[in-house]
Amino acid sequence: MEMQEMGSKLTSKDIYDPENLSLNDAVIQFNGGCTGEIVSSHGLIFTNHHCGYSAIQSHSTFEHNYIKDGFWAKSYKEELPNPGMYVTFVRKIQEVTDKVLKGVQDNMDENLKKSIIQKNINYLIKTLPKKKWQEIQIKSFYDGNKFYAFTVENYKDIRLVGAPPSSIGKFGADTDNWMWPRHSGDFSIFRIYADKNNHPAEYSPDNVPYHADKYFRISIKGIKAGDFFLIYGFPGRTQEYLPSFAVEQKVNIINPARIELREKVLNVMDQFMKNNDTIKLEYTAKYARIANYWKKWIGESQGINKTKAVERKKAFEKEFIKKVQEQNLDPSYRIIFNEFQNLYNQIKNPELARNYFVETFYLNNDFLKRSLMIYQLEKLYETEGKDEFKKNREKFLSRIQSTFSNYNPQVDQEIFKTLLKLYLEKMPAKYLDEESKNKNVEELAKQFYASSILNNKKALTKLINKNPKKFIKSIENDNGYAFLKKFIQTYYNKISPDYYSLRDKINKLQKKYMSGIIKTSSRMPLPDANSTLRISYGIIKGYEPRDAVYYFPISHLRGVLEKYIPGDYEFDVPAKLIQLYEKKDFKPYSTSGEMPVNFLGSAHTTGGNSGSPAINKEGDLIGINFDRVWEGTMSDLYYDKKISRNIMVDIRYILFIIDKFANNQRLINELDIVH
Ligand code: ARG
Ligand code: ASP
Repeated sequence: MEMQEMGSKLTSKDIYDPENLSLNDAVIQFNGGCTGEIVSSHGLIFTNHHCGYSAIQSHSTFEHNYIKDGFWAKSYKEELPNPGMYVTFVRKIQEVTDKVLKGVQDNMDENLKKSIIQKNINYLIKTLPKKKWQEIQIKSFYDGNKFYAFTVENYKDIRLVGAPPSSIGKFGADTDNWMWPRHSGDFSIFRIYADKNNHPAEYSPDNVPYHADKYFRISIKGIKAGDFFLIYGFPGRTQEYLPSFAVEQKVNIINPARIELREKVLNVMDQFMKNNDTIKLEYTAKYARIANYWKKWIGESQGINKTKAVERKKAFEKEFIKKVQEQNLDPSYRIIFNEFQNLYNQIKNPELARNYFVETFYLNNDFLKRSLMIYQLEKLYETEGKDEFKKNREKFLSRIQSTFSNYNPQVDQEIFKTLLKLYLEKMPAKYLDEESKNKNVEELAKQFYASSILNNKKALTKLINKNPKKFIKSIENDNGYAFLKKFIQTYYNKISPDYYSLRDKINKLQKKYMSGIIKTSSRMPLPDANSTLRISYGIIKGYEPRDAVYYFPISHLRGVLEKYIPGDYEFDVPAKLIQLYEKKDFKPYSTSGEMPVNFLGSAHTTGGNSGSPAINKEGDLIGINFDRVWEGTMSDLYYDKKISRNIMVDIRYILFIIDKFANNQRLINELDIVH
């Protein structure tokens, strides 16, 4: 294996062995979106600070601000439960392609195909052997050319154990996000609780710490450039095999539209946050969320251009056609790119419209988001009747109510105006009527925020709790809702059907293209990420971001102090950390007089890999993955080994913070540390 040539001593059975304990038994998907690792026999979990952020926030009050000051449980008793949080173990993986595609013919009607596949999947979920506390998940690979079944266990009693203050865990915040050099202690600590049989259970005070037979040993021997490392985790989504047209469209049309929109929203927030500390507190998390992908898309578009990814894809496509001819494959493969071009041209406007709609009505504004949820609730009543309405009411209500926390109507109103103006200006003409186009957004905003029920938590709650008929009647009479409803209807009646009918065709073609790539490749291509358990390995390595500039792969505490801006919300440093730095009190974690903080490597990672264990050639934990470098963020579409790098926190920095900064020796004693 290539891994061994790079210095790894791990065998494939060390990494995954369904019959015996192996490293997969110590890697978890953390709350559906991140990764975490088990680091003690008592179910202790390490993940990122940004992955635990909302849990940490949910326990914070004015008196106990754990986001600002950090949190350290001094006993099991002090560990804090988090309703709704869960972690997932993968115990077994098996291919089930034949079973999923049983009865499916190539030339079948697409809808029929889909329904047969769904039936087969449902059947497998019910019938594949599993223990009582396990579940089966079926996932598609290679754009639907292969299917695998995962036997998983979901643990649901997950408690918060520790988190550093934001000035460590989120040091550099949005300014440093997606960037190198980086100096962030992006970690937090949780623990799994289980029932008396060590099986998953809902939260109960009677639950006990999960007993883990497999957990990561931690190495504080240190790392250096050139070392092999491996990332084990749950990468969310990559699209390495898109045709050139798709990448071109994303980078030149879709990204710029989304970037422009979010930039405007962020500017509005920034104006308020700059001048008002309460608003700053309320909007920090929203700002970070919106800024995260805003910044990513900018880096992605630049990276695609700089690496000439579109041209390289075109060259690959030429080569593909050549191989198809040489291998005498089905002639329909030869026209695949004409078909792609045609379909991507057609989907351009619906795709753009869909993005404007989702960004406006779902992702960036609370008032608009409420209008969308109210619409969905109304629809639910119309199509499914009053029982379904009543069954789902609570769920909707709690989602709607949550949009009123950390909410400032004045800020929201400014964002509303910004978004709606852009919407009326940029929405492709087919999806906008003349009358709406000429509306006075300023006037409307003033009116809606003063009198619409969408801006009144109490009244809205009361209304949703009424009988469905009354609910519909009153909501229809609300000016704000009535106005917005037209746009939402246009989305569901026009934009979405246009978009999805083309998307289906593109997906079908993509599946075919992928099957062709498999047939014409000398070895099986790597499957795109799809939120399933994966490994990715590389070398600790710097990079050259631009001419004559070289970035070294390891950063140090010295650099934290270099960036220190007293009182700043991104670059403040706790006094205690400064003291430790000045005393050079780093032993036993570092004996060189320098405390390493972050390091870079050449592993291919993506969103979802946050919190993933970075392990050395012996399989010991050396760091936690949390980000990628700016110049390489196009790696979701096109991975370039010259400049795509993942960023990890050095495990020694984490132990140093737990031990010397937080004085939490109870946790240090729980870990299995190799010196
Ligand atoms: N860029 C990283 C990721 O995509 C970290 C995001 C959290 N930090 C932030 N400042 N928004 O998840
Ligand atoms: N920060 C990302 C995450 O949370 C990781 C990445 O996109 O590289 O999953």
